[in-house]
Parts: sequence; structure tokens; C-alpha cells
Amino acid sequence: MTIVEEDLKKAYDYIKENISVKPDIAIILGSGLGGFAEYFDDKEIIEYKNIPGFPVSTVSGHAGRFIFGRLYGKNIIAMQGRVHYYEGYSMDRVVMPVRLMKLMGASKLLLTNASGGINDSFESGTLMAINDHITSFVPSPLIGKNPDNLGVRFPDMSNVYDKELLNLLHEAANELDIDLKDGVYLQTTGPNYETPAEIRLFKALGADAVGMSTACEAMAAMHMGMRIAGISCITNMAAGINPTALSHEDVKITADRISDKFTKLVKEFIKKI
Ligand code: HPA
Repeated sequence: MTIVEEDLKKAYDYIKENISVKPDIAIILGSGLGGFAEYFDDKEIIEYKNIPGFPVSTVSGHAGRFIFGRLYGKNIIAMQGRVHYYEGYSMDRVVMPVRLMKLMGASKLLLTNASGGINDSFESGTLMAINDHITSFVPSPLIGKNPDNLGVRFPDMSNVYDKELLNLLHEAANELDIDLKDGVYLQTTGPNYETPAEIRLFKALGADAVGMSTACEAMAAMHMGMRIAGISCITNMAAGINPTALSHEDVKITADRISDKFTKLVKEFIKKI
């Protein structure tokens, strides 16, 4: 067993001692979007800080707990808060939670985040379904001895975001009359926001939105064979597109503003899967 697998086993054993349900759907709730878990029935909570070896977020606006519960009869495990590479954790720590949720039994994963819009047709408040990603600016979480029990050494990344789940997201959005865009998410290390020159570069590379999370989690989930969907909440247009300076406070305020629309969309999506 690799160290990654040994640590996962300790965390898994702790959760199993405390929670009996087997989740089917895993959701990671991004900055300002954690309120979604309040809608679950039969909630059970596990604080990250009590799980052996588990990374704990240091960012304001990010709680740190798993919420187990049911929605439309489906067993869900949601993360209120995630850790980021910029907090100083190694990539294998950053993706430990997503691996743990797969080990708990979740076969589907919905990733959500707050991100900066690069595509000119977006504006602050746009919701974007992620249809592909660019991770070339962050180290792969799969570097190091391959945990063979989790997945293969050289996993395919041709179809990270499941087409059927993407269609269901759009069906849900259409029914709710929500204008859901589609696009490519590019992950940076953060914690600084980008320069206007970097945003012009990312645009030329085909990115529609930029953020500091998500794609590494999708990579680890894909390695383990999960079916993945992703939603970016565009909380601001990226650097240089508008004259305003970027701030985490504004990101949280916009995430709050879109949280109703986001919640409606995710609920409808859960109903359909
Ligand atoms: N850049 C990177 N990450 C972000 C942004 C951004 O503009 N907005 C929210 N998260």
C-alpha cells in the first residue's frame, strides 16, 4: 500500500465508525455555495478536523465538514469547504477528500466552484457547466507512486466531464429557465488572482473560466472511475476584462447573490440523476 492508501484507510475507518449510510452522489461545494447542504434530510455531520490525517481549510468562507443526507431519496455526501493547493497542502492531500468519497461508495461527483469569467459572453453571476479543463499550470495529483488500488498509472482524460450528466445539467437548467453556459475551466495554483496578460494567455489557450480548485479533484476522481459533472459560478470577470480590482470579499458577495439560482439548479439536477 502507498502512503496515500494507508492514510485513506485510516480516514475511511474513522468515517465508517461514525456514519452508516453509503452515499451515491458526492458534491463539493465551492466558496459561498455551502448553504446547499441545508436542504438535505436526515443530516449527519463529520468535521474534517476530527478525521485522522485529513486536510483542513484555512480560507474564510470555507467551512470544513462533510454533510451526509438525503435529497429526493438519494444518498448524498457533500463537502462544505475544500482545501486548496495554495494553502500549502501537497496535491495528494488536496484530493484526499474526493478519493475518500469514492471509497465511501459515491460513484458520481458534482464539483462546484467560484471562478473568474474569461469568455466575453459571460458576466458576473453567470453559471457555467464545465465541459473540459486545463490543468497544465498545476502539478498533477497523480504524481508519485501510483496507488494501484485506486486506478491505473496512465489514466485517460479524454472525457473527464460525463456527457450524460452534462446533458442532465442542461435539461435541469432549461426547465428552470436558467441560462447555463458551457465552457472550459482552467486551474491555477493561486492564491493571487491573475494578471491581465495571463488572462489573455488563458483565453488564447481556450479557457472560458479560471479558478484555483476543481480540475485536480476531477483528475483524481477520473483516475478512480467516477462520473463527473462540474458547475462554475462566475463571481467576477477575470483580471483586465473590467477595470475593477478583484477581491475575495466581492467573490463571496456574488457567490451569495447567485446561491439561490445555483441551489435550484443543483436540486433539479440531483432529482434527475
Ligand atoms: N481568478 C481565480 N480564481 C477565482 C476568480 C478569479 O478571477 N474568481 C473566483 N475565483
